[in-house]
Amino acid sequence: MNILLIGSGGREHALAWKLSQSQRISKLFIAPGNAGTKNVGTNVDLDPQNFEAVRDFVRGNGIHMVVVGPEAPLVAGIVDYFQLEPTLKYIPVIGPSKQGARLEGSKEFSKEFMMRHNIPTAKYGSFTADSLEQGFEFLETLSSPYVLKADGLAAGKGVLICDELVEARIELTSMLVEHKFGSASDKVVIEEFLKGIELSVFVLTDGKNYKILPSAKDYKRIGEGDTGLNTGGMGAVSPVPFADQDFMNKVEQRIVKPTIKGLAQDGIDYRGFVFIGLMNVKGDPFVIEYNVRMGDPETEVVIPRIKTDLVDLFEAVADQSLDRVQLQVDDRTACTVMLVSDGYPGAYQKGRQIGGLDKVKDSVVFHAGTKDDNGNVLTNGGRVLAITSYGESIGEALEQSYANAQIVSYEGKYFRTDIGFDLKN
Ligand code: AMP
Ligand code: GLY
Repeated sequence: MNILLIGSGGREHALAWKLSQSQRISKLFIAPGNAGTKNVGTNVDLDPQNFEAVRDFVRGNGIHMVVVGPEAPLVAGIVDYFQLEPTLKYIPVIGPSKQGARLEGSKEFSKEFMMRHNIPTAKYGSFTADSLEQGFEFLETLSSPYVLKADGLAAGKGVLICDELVEARIELTSMLVEHKFGSASDKVVIEEFLKGIELSVFVLTDGKNYKILPSAKDYKRIGEGDTGLNTGGMGAVSPVPFADQDFMNKVEQRIVKPTIKGLAQDGIDYRGFVFIGLMNVKGDPFVIEYNVRMGDPETEVVIPRIKTDLVDLFEAVADQSLDRVQLQVDDRTACTVMLVSDGYPGAYQKGRQIGGLDKVKDSVVFHAGTKDDNGNVLTNGGRVLAITSYGESIGEALEQSYANAQIVSYEGKYFRTDIGFDLKN
């Protein structure tokens, strides 16, 4: 089977690494990929948002399946595009339709979905510039801190948490009236603050059946002890120790089942990953957000723990026979540590030469933001490399990743030294 995987980050390198281990793969292409994906497949210089270019590549290269890593092409409707093209409609695309992708593309849509299907989530209201006054009134009914969310995609920056009511009023005005996040904040969801500990649960669904993949926790802040600015993620751990059988049963009964059933009831074609951001509030799970893709860097710890052939899983997603595949999971813990460029998540330099990759032992290095330059590997993003290790405990896995984090070198290398700090016992 020939597969085209779309994307260029650590998530896609992890997916490509796993796909390439399948006996069933003939050719694996990654568009556009990075210096790491090049080692497990063939990179294709193609803009995934340009669906005509994707179509031409798929037709010209005998592609049998397309796997979409990031949300943007899904939100833009790549699945629908394939279904509407007579020559493409028999080629499965792993990912939800445009309507399904609204679970991530619109906060209001996802909140309405949760309300409709009785899925536990924070109390909320949704407002526009015309209902600014009502927004102020709704804020009065809540207590500090106040959570404001731009309705649309805002590159992970659209959520503000304000301690003071006056600050929340100012930010709400700035989002709705001054277009703080452009058109993404033409609508704002105001939410009750949920106090607890976060984790991510990933589900693979064919629209009828589902598999709950290993749980993971990521570390979003740039600084030690979860301080400083939000990033795409500085490291991740799987499994999450507090996500025990009892907690995961609640997640499955109260959240996963009604989500999959709700999508079907709403007539939404959804064959792909659902990433459920959860808050554990005193032992009870509440949904913070849905994403319609895998997490990054969570993929770099979840995928290495899946023993089942990924091509078998994806094929079952496409033909709705996921109930006939067994999901086998590695019992070991996997941890990943993200090496980033200094300055990130603000401005940073690119093009710095990376050394020591050949000296890494007993870890898997997933490339996040790298570029191949005639055999030299250069930094090409804020997040550069994710170093994943297995262990019998979080501590053991991290020790190995940290040893290798010292060996890899490039100018301006930075990483957090306390990934998993809140989970280690
Ligand atoms: P989101 O983009 O919806 O994942 O929000 C970004 C981050 O804001 C989440 O990872 C949480 O840490 C935090 N957050 C979002 N909604 C809430 C909420 N209702 N209560 C507490 N924290 C929240
Ligand atoms: N690590 C969080 C995300 O992928 O959105």
